[in-house]
Amino acid sequence: MASHDQTRKAASGESSEAVSVASRLLDWYDAHHRDLPWRVPPKALAGGARPDPYRVWLSEVMLQQTTVEAVKAYFRAFLEKWPDVGALAAAPAEDVMKAWAGLGYYSRARNLKACADLVAQRGGRFPGTEAGLRELPGIGAYTAAAISAIAFDRPAAVVDGNVERVVSRLNSIATPLSEAKPEIRALVERMVPTRRPGDFAQAMMDLGATICTPRRPRCMLCPLRADCSAIVSGDPERFPVRLPKDDKPLRRGAAFVAQRSDGAILLRKRPEKGLLGGMTEVPTTAWSARVDG
Ligand code: ADE
Repeated sequence: MASHDQTRKAASGESSEAVSVASRLLDWYDAHHRDLPWRVPPKALAGGARPDPYRVWLSEVMLQQTTVEAVKAYFRAFLEKWPDVGALAAAPAEDVMKAWAGLGYYSRARNLKACADLVAQRGGRFPGTEAGLRELPGIGAYTAAAISAIAFDRPAAVVDGNVERVVSRLNSIATPLSEAKPEIRALVERMVPTRRPGDFAQAMMDLGATICTPRRPRCMLCPLRADCSAIVSGDPERFPVRLPKDDKPLRRGAAFVAQRSDGAILLRKRPEKGLLGGMTEVPTTAWSARVDG
């Protein structure tokens, strides 16, 4: 392995330490990756299969603020109804919103449809670069990096909460997370390998989700335990360091449930922007920290 690492280092300019961390992580991913409906497993990739950018994009938009478990069934249902971006663009917006119901945040579904319409108009191909992807509706920095890496195997630094935790622990970053983000990003950029960057991104996600968990990480099973400085401290849960949260004021309000004689319940839609934007709710008063009487 060492001579192989050295060859790659010479070719790519990556440090040999970064190469060996990435190699260990990729070996672990080959054996222990999660089977996810939108994922092309490493064996299939090695056999020449290529990820479908439409599926990668759809899954990444669904996974914004929604758990992997919750997304699986929605992903399958969408693919069955709309197997490619052209089909989704041709679908009535109302059908898409209906199929989205339950995933929350309708602004995400509206952006999903707008993005499908635009990509279909441009010939049905997603751009492969982060910059090109970021120009599309509903695709921010994280999602652009994830699509570029996973669908196009480009060396993008994909940094979500899981990855922040893994990197904070590997390096025992004592700076509070809110201030450490640029440092973490720079460290991830240095770790991303030139070979299999898409699998590397997914391996970091899987490591954070299954081994390097927020509570009770399973360090004995971790492929990076020899690289991890937090494990030496004996308290890896200490990382990432978080500043104590400001006490939030307790707000109170009243919700009104009005039912018609036929059983229908009065509902309204929340404003598109802000907390639970675009979601349906029963009418309420304003929420206030004031305590009357
Ligand atoms: N969370 C966000 N994107 C993901 C992906 N592609 N696989 C697993 N978890 C994820």
